[in-house]
Amino acid sequence: MSELSIAVFVSGGGTNLQALIDAAGEGRLNGRISAVISNNSGSHALVRAANAGINGYHISGKRYPDGSDFVTAILEALDKHTINLIILAGYMKLLPIEIIRKFKSRIINIHPALLPKYGGEGMYGLNVHRAVIRSGDMLSGASVHFVDEIFDHGAILIQRTVPVLSDDSPESLSARVLRIEHKILPMAVRMFL
Ligand code: GRF
Repeated sequence: MSELSIAVFVSGGGTNLQALIDAAGEGRLNGRISAVISNNSGSHALVRAANAGINGYHISGKRYPDGSDFVTAILEALDKHTINLIILAGYMKLLPIEIIRKFKSRIINIHPALLPKYGGEGMYGLNVHRAVIRSGDMLSGASVHFVDEIFDHGAILIQRTVPVLSDDSPESLSARVLRIEHKILPMAVRMFL
């Protein structure tokens, strides 16, 4: 495969996207971020994309209330940039099944916990870290996994752990996990290649 052409799907602030942009800028990615797609027009990720000269797309269920138009809009953006790897980096929507099937084994997601623990329905954002703290686990971490048709389920590519401290709040644990996310996501892209 020649250089990867990557699309990053993001809903929020996009610090993981930034880690990818920085890794690419430093020649540590073996791939080019060709498109950033967000369901949220106010996502700071779209600003990060623009600052890096990357094409940003706002594709949401609000803009495309008809499900098939929504899928078509995504596919058009992916086709336009001949995308061969999709990265979900804080994408808060379920990717349409048509996209998951078309890009089978070519979609990865980053999750802020040690899957298969703390994955699935409702396990996003601070909920994840709250659950970890409540459980009394002494380790948490981040996972990058392949996306299949079941939420947070596909094969794991890479995981790294961080300690859970006795005085952690969900916010402090989240910040520690996020730092490790920024390291393993570019590593996962290199492993994918
Ligand atoms: C990260 O914790 C990621 O694991 C999760 O959503 C968060 C996104 O953070 N899926 P950011 O937008 O990359 O800062």
